Amino acid sequence: MSTPETPHPLDESAIERSVEEAIAAFAAAGDLEELKAARLAHTGDKAPIVLANRQIGTLDKTEKAAAGKLLGGARGKIQKALAARTEVLEVEHAERILVEETVDVTAAGRRRPLGARHPLSVLQERVSDVFIAMGWEIAEGPEIESEWFNFDALNIAPDHPSREMQDTFFVEPPEAHLVLRTHTSPVQIRSLLSRELPVYVLCPGKTFRTDELDATHTPVFHQFEGIAVDKGLTMADLKGTLEHFARRMLGEDAAIRLRPAYFPFTEPSAELDVWHPEAKGGPRWIEWGGCGMINPAVLRAAGVDPEEYTGFAFGMGIERTLMFRNGVPDMRDMIEGDIRFSQHFGMEV
Ligand code: DAH
Repeated sequence: MSTPETPHPLDESAIERSVEEAIAAFAAAGDLEELKAARLAHTGDKAPIVLANRQIGTLDKTEKAAAGKLLGGARGKIQKALAARTEVLEVEHAERILVEETVDVTAAGRRRPLGARHPLSVLQERVSDVFIAMGWEIAEGPEIESEWFNFDALNIAPDHPSREMQDTFFVEPPEAHLVLRTHTSPVQIRSLLSRELPVYVLCPGKTFRTDELDATHTPVFHQFEGIAVDKGLTMADLKGTLEHFARRMLGEDAAIRLRPAYFPFTEPSAELDVWHPEAKGGPRWIEWGGCGMINPAVLRAAGVDPEEYTGFAFGMGIERTLMFRNGVPDMRDMIEGDIRFSQHFGMEV
């Protein structure tokens, strides 16, 4: 914008031109932003009328009065035009906002999918809660475990076939004698070594075996291990505890059945079956896990006198529990991370 010349304070037609220019500039402003620029140019410090007004001081007395009147009138016209244009543009602005920012309250909302916790985590907590309600504690152990805790302390001798029964991931270097734990049973030993007796502990956690991924196997899976060591515990305590647990998980009509079995760390040992009254395809017995009275050799390895204390232990798989409890036929669905699997369960299992 070229700077217009400052009119002489007594040059009536020059002043009139400035007024017309100002009015034309206001009229040309298409919005409040442009009007602001025009206002600064025609009423601001450097506006011709303002500069002319400043020169009044240099005039003599009679001229001063005439110039004051002339410029006062000119400024009045400019202000009036400015006010009128401002009002028009403000109304336009308000109307435009109303149109542009209209909210269609009838429009369909955009759905934001709620996250869902993984059914395995929820089930693991549900299992833990059943035992916490009985006064048990929750313990965790390391996933990289020493061979001693994973095998030796549990009475699984170096040449014992059960070392191969559980296909083990060994961690390099071999001299470190570390494995990815093949079961949660090593936490039995850790709990006994780190706690005062009596001990009532549930240990849920990740376990690892060199299985190929298929509908019923996954190399990374979860178990929960229960261990109770106290004076005078018997197989009846084991059975009562498992029965209560089964009912909490599968309803009051659930029942359990123990079948003789062999595990190096329990004696006697049993396979645990559970009667699932609401199983898909009808009520039936389902193999659930292993259990037994803790082998005295295991108690001794953990520094507990088997003459004074006895204990029981059990171990089950969480994936397997989710499969038969919630009718999931394929374990791969649990680990593929497809949100639809978790959504199917909602926030609850
Ligand atoms: N650790 C065993 C496994 O992973 C399961 C098991 C069996 C745990 C008997 C126990 C038990 O505590 O007493 O196959």
